[in-house]
Amino acid sequence: MATTNKRLVILFSGNGGNMENIIHKLHHKEFVVNGNTMKIDIVACVSNNKEAFGIQRAKNLNIDCLIVPHKDFATREDFETTLIEKITPLKPDLIVLAGFMRILSPLFVSVFKSINIHPSLLPKFKGANAIQESFDSSDREVGVSVHWVNEELDSGAMIMQAKRIRDMDEDFEYFSSKIHELEYELYPQAILKALN
Ligand code: GAR
Repeated sequence: MATTNKRLVILFSGNGGNMENIIHKLHHKEFVVNGNTMKIDIVACVSNNKEAFGIQRAKNLNIDCLIVPHKDFATREDFETTLIEKITPLKPDLIVLAGFMRILSPLFVSVFKSINIHPSLLPKFKGANAIQESFDSSDREVGVSVHWVNEELDSGAMIMQAKRIRDMDEDFEYFSSKIHELEYELYPQAILKALN
């Protein structure tokens, strides 16, 4: 059966741990999902923060990294218009948000199919402090979510979740490291599911 090429663009804002994991696990590799063979190309990464550590990670992995600082634009609309102009020629099949800490408006979301990872069992703990908030809660069942992006924060249709039962004695550092482990396991699988 023919192989379909799938082109991904990854957006990030900071550390870039999920971005690097996705590149290691998916870039230039072939997968068979429900009988369909697909080959993944990460065609570029985009950072909205010129200080992001992930920029160096992308360079080390020989992935083009565009830097589009949101601070250079007067409005969200101007920022997203430029993002769209820069991403469109890359012809992505999917936009993968990996620690991209900007809300995307309908302008962007109506142009590109986009997915996001969030470090909580959504709909719990939306927003920028999800790991801390789930750590501070009394929930024993914790985890991570990958969902379609819509114009509302951390709110689109669910693609996959991964869960674990924590020990309430765990410290924050251990708790966070287990959340990131779940993310690194889940996101590549969820991307393949979304592409299919
Ligand atoms: C990840 O934990 C990701 O789930 C979270 O930011 C972190 C980025 O880390 N995203 C959100 O909170 C989105 N609302 P990374 O840059 O090392 O991948």
